[in-house]
Amino acid sequence: MRTHYCGQLRAEHVGETVTLFGWVDRRRDHGGVIFVDLRDRTGIAQIVSDPERTPKSYDAADGLRNEYVVKITGRVTQRPPESLNPRIPTGEIEIYADQIELLNAVRKQLPFQVSTAEPEPVREDLRLKYRYLDLRRERMSRNLQLRHQVVKSIRRFLEDQEGFMEVETPVLTRSTPEGARDYLVPSRVNPGEFFALPQSPQLFKQLLMVSGFDRYYQIARCFRDEDLRADRQPEFTQLDMEMSFMSLEEILDLNEKLVCHIFQQVQGLEIPRPFPRLTYAEAMDRYGCDKPDTRYGLELVNVSDLVKDSEFKVFSGAVASGGVVKVLPIPGGNEAISNVRIKPEGDLFNEATSMGAKGLAYIRVRDNGEIDTIGAIKNNLSEAQKQELLERTGAQPGHLLLFGAGDTATVNKTLDRLRQVVARELNLIDPSKINLLWVVEFPMFEWNADEKRLEALHHPFTAPYPEDSQDLKTARAQAYDLVLNGFEVGGGSLRIYQPDLQQTVFETIGLSREEAQNKFGFLLEAFEYGTPPHGGIAYGLDRLVMLLAGEESIRDAIAFPKTQQARCLLTNAPSTVDAKQLKELQIASTYQPKP
Ligand code: AMO
Repeated sequence: MRTHYCGQLRAEHVGETVTLFGWVDRRRDHGGVIFVDLRDRTGIAQIVSDPERTPKSYDAADGLRNEYVVKITGRVTQRPPESLNPRIPTGEIEIYADQIELLNAVRKQLPFQVSTAEPEPVREDLRLKYRYLDLRRERMSRNLQLRHQVVKSIRRFLEDQEGFMEVETPVLTRSTPEGARDYLVPSRVNPGEFFALPQSPQLFKQLLMVSGFDRYYQIARCFRDEDLRADRQPEFTQLDMEMSFMSLEEILDLNEKLVCHIFQQVQGLEIPRPFPRLTYAEAMDRYGCDKPDTRYGLELVNVSDLVKDSEFKVFSGAVASGGVVKVLPIPGGNEAISNVRIKPEGDLFNEATSMGAKGLAYIRVRDNGEIDTIGAIKNNLSEAQKQELLERTGAQPGHLLLFGAGDTATVNKTLDRLRQVVARELNLIDPSKINLLWVVEFPMFEWNADEKRLEALHHPFTAPYPEDSQDLKTARAQAYDLVLNGFEVGGGSLRIYQPDLQQTVFETIGLSREEAQNKFGFLLEAFEYGTPPHGGIAYGLDRLVMLLAGEESIRDAIAFPKTQQARCLLTNAPSTVDAKQLKELQIASTYQPKP
Protein backbone atom coordinates (compact mmCIF):
# COMPACT_ATOMS: atom_id res chain seq x y z
CA MET A 1 0.00 0.00 0.00
CA ARG A 2 2.29 2.76 1.24
CA THR A 3 5.49 2.89 -0.79
CA HIS A 4 7.20 5.79 0.99
CA TYR A 5 6.83 8.25 3.81
CA CYS A 6 6.39 11.82 2.64
CA GLY A 7 9.62 13.12 4.11
CA GLN A 8 11.73 10.41 2.44
CA LEU A 9 11.27 11.48 -1.17
CA ARG A 10 14.27 12.97 -2.96
CA ALA A 11 15.45 13.74 -6.49
CA GLU A 12 16.58 10.12 -6.82
CA HIS A 13 12.91 9.06 -6.78
CA VAL A 14 12.04 11.13 -9.86
CA GLY A 15 10.12 8.98 -12.32
CA GLU A 16 8.81 6.54 -9.71
CA THR A 17 5.16 6.06 -8.97
CA VAL A 18 4.60 6.30 -5.23
CA THR A 19 1.73 5.88 -2.80
CA LEU A 20 1.64 8.12 0.22
CA PHE A 21 -0.68 8.42 3.20
CA GLY A 22 -0.95 11.48 5.34
CA TRP A 23 -2.67 14.68 6.37
CA VAL A 24 -3.21 17.80 4.29
CA ASP A 25 -0.88 20.34 5.84
CA ARG A 26 -2.29 22.99 3.52
CA ARG A 27 -3.83 23.30 0.12
CA ARG A 28 -3.28 26.16 -2.29
CA ASP A 29 -5.00 26.92 -5.57
CA HIS A 30 -2.69 28.71 -8.01
CA GLY A 31 -4.83 29.61 -10.96
CA GLY A 32 -6.43 26.24 -11.32
CA VAL A 33 -3.37 24.22 -10.31
CA ILE A 34 -3.82 22.74 -6.86
CA PHE A 35 -0.86 22.26 -4.56
CA VAL A 36 -1.26 20.11 -1.48
CA ASP A 37 1.41 19.81 1.18
CA LEU A 38 0.99 16.27 2.40
CA ARG A 39 2.36 15.58 5.87
CA ASP A 40 3.19 12.50 7.88
CA ARG A 41 5.53 12.10 10.82
CA THR A 42 8.60 12.21 8.61
CA GLY A 43 7.88 15.51 6.90
CA ILE A 44 6.09 17.12 3.99
CA ALA A 45 5.85 16.37 0.27
CA GLN A 46 4.24 18.63 -2.30
CA ILE A 47 1.40 17.10 -4.31
CA VAL A 48 0.21 18.73 -7.53
CA SER A 49 -3.00 18.29 -9.45
CA ASP A 50 -4.29 20.14 -12.49
CA PRO A 51 -7.12 19.47 -14.89
CA GLU A 52 -4.80 18.77 -17.79
CA ARG A 53 -2.04 16.54 -16.42
CA THR A 54 -4.01 14.79 -13.67
CA PRO A 55 -7.70 15.10 -14.55
CA LYS A 56 -8.64 12.03 -12.48
CA SER A 57 -7.43 13.49 -9.19
CA TYR A 58 -8.41 17.09 -9.78
CA ASP A 59 -11.88 17.11 -8.24
CA ALA A 60 -10.66 15.27 -5.16
CA ALA A 61 -7.72 17.66 -4.79
CA ASP A 62 -10.06 20.59 -5.15
CA GLY A 63 -12.19 19.33 -2.27
CA LEU A 64 -9.35 18.83 0.18
CA ARG A 65 -9.07 20.98 3.28
CA ASN A 66 -6.48 21.24 6.05
CA GLU A 67 -5.99 18.05 8.08
CA TYR A 68 -8.04 15.82 5.81
CA VAL A 69 -6.59 12.31 5.76
CA VAL A 70 -5.75 11.08 2.28
CA LYS A 71 -4.12 8.41 0.22
CA ILE A 72 -2.30 9.69 -2.83
CA THR A 73 -0.73 7.83 -5.72
CA GLY A 74 1.31 9.73 -8.22
CA ARG A 75 4.53 10.18 -10.10
CA VAL A 76 7.55 11.87 -8.54
CA THR A 77 8.64 14.77 -10.73
CA GLN A 78 11.52 17.23 -10.64
CA ARG A 79 10.26 20.66 -9.62
CA PRO A 80 10.83 23.47 -12.12
CA PRO A 81 13.72 25.73 -11.03
CA GLU A 82 11.42 28.55 -9.92
CA SER A 83 9.60 26.38 -7.41
CA LEU A 84 12.54 24.59 -5.76
CA ASN A 85 12.24 24.84 -1.98
CA PRO A 86 15.60 24.46 -0.23
CA ARG A 87 13.94 24.86 3.20
CA ILE A 88 12.52 21.35 3.18
CA PRO A 89 14.36 18.09 2.42
CA THR A 90 11.81 17.15 -0.25
CA GLY A 91 12.02 20.58 -1.85
CA GLU A 92 13.48 19.36 -5.15
CA ILE A 93 10.53 17.21 -6.10
CA GLU A 94 6.75 17.20 -6.32
CA ILE A 95 4.26 14.45 -6.99
CA TYR A 96 1.70 14.66 -9.74
CA ALA A 97 -1.29 12.91 -8.23
CA ASP A 98 -2.95 10.28 -10.41
CA GLN A 99 -5.31 9.31 -7.63
CA ILE A 100 -6.41 11.01 -4.46
CA GLU A 101 -8.57 9.06 -2.08
CA LEU A 102 -10.16 10.90 0.80
CA LEU A 103 -9.94 8.61 3.84
CA ASN A 104 -11.42 10.98 6.35
CA ALA A 105 -12.43 14.60 6.56
CA VAL A 106 -12.24 17.11 9.39
CA ARG A 107 -15.70 17.72 10.79
CA LYS A 108 -15.06 20.46 13.30
CA GLN A 109 -13.24 23.73 13.29
CA LEU A 110 -9.60 23.07 14.19
CA PRO A 111 -8.70 24.63 17.57
CA PHE A 112 -5.44 25.86 16.06
CA GLN A 113 -3.51 25.54 12.83
CA VAL A 114 -1.63 22.30 12.77
CA SER A 115 0.46 23.47 9.85
CA THR A 116 3.52 25.39 10.87
CA ALA A 117 4.13 26.73 7.36
CA GLU A 118 3.07 30.11 8.69
CA PRO A 119 3.87 29.70 12.36
CA GLU A 120 1.57 31.32 14.86
CA PRO A 121 1.94 31.03 18.63
CA VAL A 122 -0.54 28.65 20.21
CA ARG A 123 -1.46 28.85 23.90
CA GLU A 124 -0.05 25.94 25.86
CA ASP A 125 -3.39 25.05 27.43
CA LEU A 126 -4.85 24.59 23.96
CA ARG A 127 -1.86 22.55 22.88
CA LEU A 128 -2.31 20.29 25.89
CA LYS A 129 -6.09 19.96 25.54
CA TYR A 130 -5.72 18.96 21.89
CA ARG A 131 -2.40 17.23 22.39
CA TYR A 132 -3.09 14.72 19.60
CA LEU A 133 -3.13 17.66 17.17
CA ASP A 134 -0.14 19.30 18.80
CA LEU A 135 1.79 16.06 18.35
CA ARG A 136 1.07 16.21 14.62
CA ARG A 137 2.98 19.48 14.49
CA GLU A 138 6.63 19.51 13.53
CA ARG A 139 8.13 20.57 16.84
CA MET A 140 6.50 17.96 19.06
CA SER A 141 6.76 15.27 16.42
CA ARG A 142 10.49 15.97 16.24
CA ASN A 143 10.85 15.94 20.03
CA LEU A 144 9.08 12.60 20.41
CA GLN A 145 11.18 11.08 17.67
CA LEU A 146 14.28 12.38 19.41
CA ARG A 147 13.08 10.82 22.66
CA HIS A 148 12.62 7.54 20.84
CA GLN A 149 16.16 7.76 19.44
CA VAL A 150 17.56 8.45 22.91
CA VAL A 151 15.81 5.44 24.43
CA LYS A 152 16.83 3.27 21.51
CA SER A 153 20.48 4.27 21.84
CA ILE A 154 20.35 3.62 25.60
CA ARG A 155 18.94 0.15 25.10
CA ARG A 156 21.43 -0.73 22.38
CA PHE A 157 24.38 0.43 24.48
CA LEU A 158 23.34 -1.12 27.77
CA GLU A 159 22.04 -4.39 26.39
CA ASP A 160 24.25 -5.08 23.40
CA GLN A 161 27.53 -3.56 24.52
CA GLU A 162 27.46 -3.78 28.30
CA GLY A 163 25.33 -6.82 29.11
CA PHE A 164 22.57 -5.05 31.05
CA MET A 165 19.18 -6.63 31.37
CA GLU A 166 15.86 -4.82 31.79
CA VAL A 167 13.65 -5.94 34.65
CA GLU A 168 10.28 -4.34 35.40
CA THR A 169 9.49 -3.45 38.97
CA PRO A 170 6.02 -2.90 40.45
CA VAL A 171 4.03 0.29 40.20
CA LEU A 172 1.70 -0.66 43.02
CA THR A 173 4.14 -0.78 45.87
CA ARG A 174 5.27 0.71 49.17
CA SER A 175 6.61 4.16 49.70
CA THR A 176 10.21 4.72 48.50
CA PRO A 177 11.95 7.56 50.29
CA GLU A 178 13.15 9.98 47.60
CA GLY A 179 12.02 13.02 49.53
CA ALA A 180 8.72 13.85 47.82
CA ARG A 181 5.11 13.10 48.77
CA ASP A 182 3.70 9.80 47.60
CA TYR A 183 0.79 9.25 45.28
CA LEU A 184 -1.41 6.78 47.07
CA VAL A 185 -3.73 4.14 45.65
CA PRO A 186 -6.36 2.69 47.96
CA SER A 187 -6.68 -1.08 48.08
CA ARG A 188 -10.25 -2.34 47.72
CA VAL A 189 -9.31 -5.84 48.73
CA ASN A 190 -7.52 -4.62 51.84
CA PRO A 191 -9.74 -1.81 53.02
CA GLY A 192 -8.03 1.00 54.89
CA GLU A 193 -4.69 0.17 53.25
CA PHE A 194 -2.88 1.92 50.44
CA PHE A 195 -0.28 1.26 47.84
CA ALA A 196 2.17 4.04 47.08
CA LEU A 197 3.22 4.64 43.49
CA PRO A 198 7.01 4.41 43.29
CA GLN A 199 9.04 7.61 43.56
CA SER A 200 11.74 5.45 42.00
CA PRO A 201 12.48 1.73 41.74
CA GLN A 202 15.25 2.20 44.33
CA LEU A 203 14.45 -0.61 46.74
CA PHE A 204 13.53 -3.15 44.08
CA LYS A 205 16.68 -2.54 42.12
CA GLN A 206 18.74 -3.11 45.23
CA LEU A 207 16.81 -6.33 45.86
CA LEU A 208 17.58 -7.37 42.28
CA MET A 209 21.26 -7.06 43.17
CA VAL A 210 20.65 -9.40 46.09
CA SER A 211 19.07 -11.73 43.52
CA GLY A 212 22.19 -11.67 41.38
CA PHE A 213 20.99 -9.64 38.34
CA ASP A 214 24.18 -7.70 38.56
CA ARG A 215 23.59 -5.32 35.67
CA TYR A 216 20.00 -4.10 35.78
CA TYR A 217 18.35 -1.27 33.96
CA GLN A 218 14.81 -0.09 33.41
CA ILE A 219 13.04 2.70 31.61
CA ALA A 220 10.92 3.29 34.68
CA ARG A 221 7.92 5.47 35.36
CA CYS A 222 8.21 7.35 38.67
CA PHE A 223 5.65 9.40 40.58
CA ARG A 224 6.31 12.27 42.93
CA ASP A 225 3.74 14.58 44.40
CA GLU A 226 5.93 17.67 44.65
CA ASP A 227 5.75 21.30 43.64
CA LEU A 228 6.13 21.46 39.90
CA ARG A 229 8.69 23.50 38.02
CA ALA A 230 9.65 23.83 34.38
CA ASP A 231 11.87 20.76 34.71
CA ARG A 232 9.65 18.61 36.93
CA GLN A 233 6.58 16.48 36.37
CA PRO A 234 4.52 14.51 38.88
CA GLU A 235 4.86 11.50 36.62
CA PHE A 236 8.19 11.18 34.87
CA THR A 237 10.52 8.59 33.41
CA GLN A 238 13.88 7.50 34.69
CA LEU A 239 16.58 5.53 33.05
CA ASP A 240 17.27 3.52 36.18
CA MET A 241 20.42 1.41 36.58
CA GLU A 242 22.04 -0.70 39.26
CA MET A 243 25.28 -2.69 39.19
CA SER A 244 27.06 -5.07 41.53
CA PHE A 245 30.78 -5.53 42.12
CA MET A 246 31.76 -2.21 40.56
CA SER A 247 33.73 0.59 42.14
CA LEU A 248 32.59 4.19 42.03
CA GLU A 249 35.20 4.89 39.36
CA GLU A 250 34.01 2.00 37.23
CA ILE A 251 30.41 3.13 37.53
CA LEU A 252 31.24 6.69 36.51
CA ASP A 253 33.36 5.45 33.64
CA LEU A 254 30.59 3.24 32.29
CA ASN A 255 28.10 6.05 32.62
CA GLU A 256 30.32 8.49 30.79
CA LYS A 257 30.54 5.99 27.95
CA LEU A 258 26.75 5.70 27.97
CA VAL A 259 26.21 9.45 27.85
CA CYS A 260 28.81 9.86 25.09
CA HIS A 261 27.09 7.08 23.16
CA ILE A 262 23.75 8.90 23.41
CA PHE A 263 25.22 12.19 22.18
CA GLN A 264 27.08 10.40 19.43
CA GLN A 265 24.07 8.43 18.19
CA VAL A 266 21.47 11.13 18.55
CA GLN A 267 23.38 14.28 17.71
CA GLY A 268 26.53 13.03 16.04
CA LEU A 269 28.62 14.78 18.69
CA GLU A 270 31.81 13.50 20.28
CA ILE A 271 31.95 14.52 23.93
CA PRO A 272 35.42 14.43 25.46
CA ARG A 273 36.01 12.10 28.43
CA PRO A 274 36.59 11.96 31.32
CA PHE A 275 33.94 14.49 32.35
CA PRO A 276 35.17 17.17 34.74
CA ARG A 277 34.34 16.71 38.41
CA LEU A 278 33.56 19.11 41.20
CA THR A 279 33.10 18.19 44.81
CA TYR A 280 29.87 19.35 46.37
CA ALA A 281 31.87 21.69 48.63
CA GLU A 282 33.66 23.25 45.65
CA ALA A 283 30.45 23.61 43.67
CA MET A 284 28.70 25.35 46.54
CA ASP A 285 31.69 27.57 47.17
CA ARG A 286 32.31 28.64 43.58
CA TYR A 287 28.77 28.63 42.18
CA GLY A 288 26.46 28.60 45.19
CA CYS A 289 24.68 25.50 43.91
CA ASP A 290 25.21 21.79 43.41
CA LYS A 291 24.28 21.84 39.73
CA PRO A 292 26.26 24.72 38.32
CA ASP A 293 26.05 25.79 34.71
CA THR A 294 29.75 26.00 33.89
CA ARG A 295 29.27 27.20 30.32
CA TYR A 296 30.10 30.65 31.64
CA GLY A 297 32.28 32.05 34.43
CA LEU A 298 30.80 34.50 36.94
CA GLU A 299 32.28 32.52 39.82
CA LEU A 300 31.51 33.58 43.36
CA VAL A 301 34.26 34.77 45.66
CA ASN A 302 34.14 34.24 49.41
CA VAL A 303 35.33 37.38 51.18
CA SER A 304 34.15 36.51 54.70
CA ASP A 305 37.65 36.64 56.20
CA LEU A 306 38.22 40.07 54.70
CA VAL A 307 35.13 41.74 56.10
CA LYS A 308 34.60 39.80 59.31
CA ASP A 309 35.85 42.65 61.49
CA SER A 310 34.44 45.50 59.45
CA GLU A 311 32.23 48.19 60.95
CA PHE A 312 29.55 47.27 58.44
CA LYS A 313 27.43 45.11 60.70
CA VAL A 314 25.60 43.36 57.87
CA PHE A 315 28.95 41.88 56.82
CA SER A 316 30.62 41.32 60.18
CA GLY A 317 27.38 40.14 61.77
CA ALA A 318 26.82 37.57 59.03
CA VAL A 319 30.26 36.07 59.61
CA ALA A 320 29.96 36.29 63.41
CA SER A 321 26.77 34.25 63.34
CA GLY A 322 28.37 31.49 61.29
CA GLY A 323 27.34 32.76 57.87
CA VAL A 324 29.30 34.14 54.94
CA VAL A 325 29.86 37.16 52.75
CA LYS A 326 30.30 36.31 49.09
CA VAL A 327 30.64 38.36 45.93
CA LEU A 328 29.32 37.85 42.43
CA PRO A 329 31.71 39.80 40.19
CA ILE A 330 30.11 40.80 36.88
CA PRO A 331 32.44 42.00 34.12
CA GLY A 332 30.73 44.77 32.16
CA GLY A 333 28.06 44.92 34.85
CA ASN A 334 28.79 48.55 35.67
CA GLU A 335 27.35 49.67 32.38
CA ALA A 336 24.83 46.90 31.78
CA ILE A 337 23.11 46.96 35.15
CA SER A 338 21.69 50.24 36.42
CA ASN A 339 21.32 51.21 40.08
CA VAL A 340 17.53 51.21 39.75
CA ARG A 341 17.67 47.45 39.23
CA ILE A 342 19.74 46.62 42.30
CA LYS A 343 18.10 49.02 44.71
CA PRO A 344 14.84 48.24 46.55
CA GLU A 345 11.98 47.47 44.12
CA GLY A 346 14.45 46.83 41.28
CA ASP A 347 14.13 43.51 39.43
CA LEU A 348 17.52 42.14 40.52
CA PHE A 349 16.89 43.31 44.07
CA ASN A 350 13.58 41.45 43.96
CA GLU A 351 15.27 38.32 42.60
CA ALA A 352 17.64 38.49 45.57
CA THR A 353 14.95 38.99 48.17
CA SER A 354 12.81 36.23 46.66
CA MET A 355 15.68 33.91 47.57
CA GLY A 356 15.68 35.19 51.16
CA ALA A 357 18.30 37.95 50.92
CA LYS A 358 17.60 41.05 52.95
CA GLY A 359 19.37 43.48 50.63
CA LEU A 360 21.85 43.74 47.82
CA ALA A 361 25.07 45.62 48.53
CA TYR A 362 27.25 46.46 45.55
CA ILE A 363 30.45 48.07 44.36
CA ARG A 364 30.78 49.55 40.90
CA VAL A 365 34.17 50.02 39.31
CA ARG A 366 33.79 52.89 36.90
CA ASP A 367 35.64 52.84 33.60
CA ASN A 368 38.25 55.23 35.02
CA GLY A 369 38.85 52.85 37.92
CA GLU A 370 36.99 54.92 40.51
CA ILE A 371 34.68 53.00 42.76
CA ASP A 372 31.12 53.80 43.58
CA THR A 373 29.31 51.92 46.28
CA ILE A 374 26.60 52.00 48.89
CA GLY A 375 27.17 54.30 51.87
CA ALA A 376 27.66 51.48 54.32
CA ILE A 377 30.61 50.07 52.40
CA LYS A 378 31.98 53.53 51.63
CA ASN A 379 31.92 54.54 55.28
CA ASN A 380 32.79 51.31 57.02
CA LEU A 381 35.41 49.60 54.90
CA SER A 382 38.93 51.02 54.86
CA GLU A 383 40.62 51.89 51.57
CA ALA A 384 42.93 48.94 52.04
CA GLN A 385 39.96 46.60 52.55
CA LYS A 386 38.24 47.95 49.46
CA GLN A 387 41.39 47.53 47.41
CA GLU A 388 41.80 43.99 48.63
CA LEU A 389 38.16 43.26 47.80
CA LEU A 390 38.78 44.43 44.26
CA GLU A 391 41.91 42.36 43.97
CA ARG A 392 40.36 39.24 45.44
CA THR A 393 37.38 39.39 43.12
CA GLY A 394 39.48 40.19 40.06
CA ALA A 395 37.52 43.42 39.61
CA GLN A 396 38.56 45.56 36.66
CA PRO A 397 37.18 48.83 35.36
CA GLY A 398 33.60 48.14 34.23
CA HIS A 399 32.91 45.49 36.87
CA LEU A 400 29.88 45.38 39.11
CA LEU A 401 30.27 43.43 42.35
CA LEU A 402 27.10 42.16 44.00
CA PHE A 403 27.31 41.04 47.62
CA GLY A 404 25.47 38.36 49.50
CA ALA A 405 25.74 38.39 53.29
CA GLY A 406 23.94 36.14 55.72
CA ASP A 407 23.55 32.46 56.43
CA THR A 408 25.45 30.36 53.93
CA ALA A 409 22.44 28.67 52.35
CA THR A 410 20.63 31.95 51.67
CA VAL A 411 23.73 33.66 50.30
CA ASN A 412 24.39 30.74 47.98
CA LYS A 413 20.79 30.58 46.82
CA THR A 414 20.71 34.31 46.17
CA LEU A 415 23.97 34.59 44.28
CA ASP A 416 23.25 31.42 42.31
CA ARG A 417 19.97 32.95 41.19
CA LEU A 418 21.57 36.29 40.28
CA ARG A 419 24.40 34.53 38.50
CA GLN A 420 21.93 32.75 36.25
CA VAL A 421 19.78 35.80 35.56
CA VAL A 422 22.80 37.95 34.77
CA ALA A 423 24.40 35.32 32.53
CA ARG A 424 21.24 35.09 30.47
CA GLU A 425 20.81 38.81 30.27
CA LEU A 426 24.40 39.55 29.31
CA ASN A 427 24.35 36.74 26.74
CA LEU A 428 27.19 34.89 28.42
CA ILE A 429 25.71 31.49 27.61
CA ASP A 430 26.80 29.82 24.40
CA PRO A 431 23.78 27.63 23.56
CA SER A 432 25.90 25.34 21.40
CA LYS A 433 28.06 24.33 24.36
CA ILE A 434 27.48 21.02 26.10
CA ASN A 435 28.84 21.08 29.59
CA LEU A 436 28.71 17.82 31.43
CA LEU A 437 30.16 17.45 34.87
CA TRP A 438 30.00 15.17 37.87
CA VAL A 439 29.32 16.62 41.25
CA VAL A 440 30.73 14.22 43.84
CA GLU A 441 31.30 13.87 47.57
CA PHE A 442 27.93 15.13 48.70
CA PRO A 443 27.39 15.25 52.43
CA MET A 444 25.45 12.25 53.69
CA PHE A 445 22.93 14.43 55.52
CA GLU A 446 21.54 17.91 55.68
CA TRP A 447 19.69 19.63 58.47
CA ASN A 448 15.94 19.87 58.10
CA ALA A 449 15.16 22.99 60.11
CA ASP A 450 11.38 22.46 60.00
CA GLU A 451 11.52 18.94 61.36
CA LYS A 452 14.64 19.62 63.44
CA ARG A 453 16.42 16.50 62.28
CA LEU A 454 19.07 15.36 59.84
CA GLU A 455 17.79 13.97 56.57
CA ALA A 456 19.54 12.04 53.85
CA LEU A 457 20.68 14.35 51.07
CA HIS A 458 20.27 11.64 48.41
CA HIS A 459 18.40 8.82 50.07
CA PRO A 460 19.16 6.77 53.15
CA PHE A 461 20.63 3.84 51.18
CA THR A 462 23.69 5.82 50.10
CA ALA A 463 27.02 4.60 51.46
CA PRO A 464 29.41 6.94 53.27
CA TYR A 465 33.09 7.10 52.36
CA PRO A 466 34.62 4.39 54.56
CA GLU A 467 37.19 6.84 55.91
CA ASP A 468 34.36 9.12 57.08
CA SER A 469 32.24 6.53 58.80
CA GLN A 470 33.55 7.34 62.28
CA ASP A 471 31.24 10.32 62.40
CA LEU A 472 28.33 9.70 60.10
CA LYS A 473 26.76 13.10 60.78
CA THR A 474 29.53 14.89 58.93
CA ALA A 475 30.44 12.08 56.55
CA ARG A 476 30.66 12.50 52.80
CA ALA A 477 28.51 10.19 50.72
CA GLN A 478 29.77 8.08 47.85
CA ALA A 479 27.22 9.83 45.68
CA TYR A 480 27.39 11.53 42.31
CA ASP A 481 25.13 13.74 40.24
CA LEU A 482 25.52 14.30 36.54
CA VAL A 483 24.95 17.92 35.60
CA LEU A 484 24.28 19.07 32.05
CA ASN A 485 24.32 22.82 31.40
CA GLY A 486 23.07 23.58 34.89
CA PHE A 487 20.46 20.83 35.09
CA GLU A 488 20.72 17.74 37.25
CA VAL A 489 20.13 15.02 34.68
CA GLY A 490 21.14 12.07 36.82
CA GLY A 491 22.13 11.02 40.28
CA GLY A 492 23.18 7.93 42.12
CA SER A 493 25.50 6.41 44.64
CA LEU A 494 27.21 3.37 46.02
CA ARG A 495 24.83 1.71 48.44
CA ILE A 496 25.04 0.44 51.92
CA TYR A 497 24.99 -3.35 51.83
CA GLN A 498 25.66 -4.08 55.50
CA PRO A 499 22.51 -4.30 57.67
CA ASP A 500 24.26 -2.72 60.69
CA LEU A 501 25.41 0.35 58.80
CA GLN A 502 21.98 0.68 57.21
CA GLN A 503 20.42 0.57 60.65
CA THR A 504 22.80 3.28 61.92
CA VAL A 505 21.91 5.52 59.00
CA PHE A 506 18.22 5.09 59.73
CA GLU A 507 18.90 6.06 63.34
CA THR A 508 20.88 9.12 62.23
CA ILE A 509 17.87 10.43 60.31
CA GLY A 510 15.69 9.87 63.33
CA LEU A 511 14.04 6.63 62.25
CA SER A 512 13.65 4.39 65.27
CA ARG A 513 14.53 0.72 65.01
CA GLU A 514 10.84 -0.07 65.04
CA GLU A 515 9.94 2.44 62.32
CA ALA A 516 12.84 1.27 60.17
CA GLN A 517 11.72 -2.30 60.64
CA ASN A 518 8.18 -1.39 59.74
CA LYS A 519 9.11 0.55 56.60
CA PHE A 520 12.19 -1.27 55.32
CA GLY A 521 12.29 -4.51 57.29
CA PHE A 522 12.18 -6.46 54.02
CA LEU A 523 15.31 -4.68 52.79
CA LEU A 524 17.20 -5.10 56.05
CA GLU A 525 16.27 -8.75 56.06
CA ALA A 526 17.39 -9.20 52.45
CA PHE A 527 20.77 -7.75 53.42
CA GLU A 528 21.18 -10.71 55.79
CA TYR A 529 21.23 -13.22 52.94
CA GLY A 530 24.42 -12.40 51.09
CA THR A 531 24.21 -8.97 49.46
CA PRO A 532 26.86 -7.97 46.95
CA PRO A 533 28.43 -4.52 47.08
CA HIS A 534 26.44 -2.48 44.61
CA GLY A 535 25.64 0.97 43.34
CA GLY A 536 23.62 2.69 40.68
CA ILE A 537 22.24 5.80 39.14
CA ALA A 538 19.05 7.15 37.64
CA TYR A 539 18.70 9.69 34.87
CA GLY A 540 15.73 11.94 34.34
CA LEU A 541 14.91 10.86 30.81
CA ASP A 542 12.40 13.64 30.17
CA ARG A 543 14.87 16.24 31.38
CA LEU A 544 17.64 14.83 29.24
CA VAL A 545 15.41 14.85 26.16
CA MET A 546 14.27 18.39 26.97
CA LEU A 547 17.90 19.54 26.93
CA LEU A 548 18.82 17.58 23.83
CA ALA A 549 15.80 19.05 22.05
CA GLY A 550 16.77 22.56 23.13
CA GLU A 551 13.44 22.99 24.90
CA GLU A 552 12.90 24.97 28.09
CA SER A 553 9.96 23.01 29.44
CA ILE A 554 9.94 19.34 30.33
CA ARG A 555 6.38 19.23 28.98
CA ASP A 556 7.79 19.56 25.48
CA ALA A 557 9.69 16.31 25.93
CA ILE A 558 6.64 14.27 27.01
CA ALA A 559 3.78 13.08 24.82
CA PHE A 560 1.01 13.63 27.34
CA PRO A 561 2.32 15.77 30.21
CA LYS A 562 0.59 17.34 33.19
CA THR A 563 0.27 21.08 33.72
CA GLN A 564 1.95 23.03 36.51
CA GLN A 565 -1.24 22.34 38.49
CA ALA A 566 -0.65 18.60 38.01
CA ARG A 567 -3.65 18.20 35.70
CA CYS A 568 -4.03 16.46 32.37
CA LEU A 569 -5.98 18.92 30.22
CA LEU A 570 -6.68 16.30 27.58
CA THR A 571 -8.48 13.76 29.76
CA ASN A 572 -9.30 16.25 32.50
CA ALA A 573 -7.69 14.07 35.14
CA PRO A 574 -7.73 14.04 38.09
CA SER A 575 -11.49 13.94 38.42
CA THR A 576 -14.11 13.06 40.97
CA VAL A 577 -15.23 9.44 41.03
CA ASP A 578 -18.57 7.73 41.51
CA ALA A 579 -19.87 7.47 45.04
CA LYS A 580 -20.13 3.75 44.34
CA GLN A 581 -16.38 3.48 43.73
CA LEU A 582 -15.59 5.33 46.93
CA LYS A 583 -17.97 3.11 48.84
CA GLU A 584 -16.29 -0.01 47.50
CA LEU A 585 -12.98 1.39 48.64
CA GLN A 586 -14.49 2.38 51.97
CA ILE A 587 -13.23 5.90 51.44
CA ALA A 588 -15.02 9.15 52.20
CA SER A 589 -13.71 12.54 51.15
CA THR A 590 -13.49 15.27 53.78
CA TYR A 591 -12.90 17.90 51.12
CA GLN A 592 -15.12 20.97 51.40
CA PRO A 593 -15.00 23.26 48.38
CA LYS A 594 -14.27 26.84 49.45
CA PRO A 595 -17.45 28.90 49.43
P1 AMO B 1 16.84 11.22 42.02
O1 AMO B 1 15.76 11.51 42.98
O2 AMO B 1 18.02 12.12 41.99
O3 AMO B 1 17.46 9.78 42.29
O4 AMO B 1 16.22 11.13 40.58
C1 AMO B 1 17.04 10.82 39.46
C2 AMO B 1 16.80 11.83 38.35
O5 AMO B 1 15.43 11.87 38.00
C3 AMO B 1 15.11 13.18 37.55
N1 AMO B 1 13.94 13.66 38.32
C4 AMO B 1 12.84 14.20 37.77
N2 AMO B 1 12.53 14.48 36.50
C5 AMO B 1 11.33 15.03 36.27
N3 AMO B 1 10.41 15.32 37.20
C6 AMO B 1 10.67 15.06 38.49
N4 AMO B 1 9.74 15.32 39.42
C7 AMO B 1 11.94 14.48 38.84
N5 AMO B 1 12.54 14.10 39.99
C8 AMO B 1 13.73 13.61 39.65
C9 AMO B 1 16.32 14.06 37.76
C10 AMO B 1 17.14 13.25 38.74
O6 AMO B 1 18.52 13.49 38.57
N6 AMO B 1 16.73 6.35 43.20
C11 AMO B 1 17.60 7.48 42.94
C12 AMO B 1 18.67 7.16 41.94
C13 AMO B 1 19.75 6.27 42.46
O7 AMO B 1 20.27 6.53 43.57
O8 AMO B 1 20.12 5.32 41.75
C14 AMO B 1 16.75 8.65 42.44
O9 AMO B 1 15.59 8.51 42.13
O10 AMO B 1 17.00 14.22 36.54
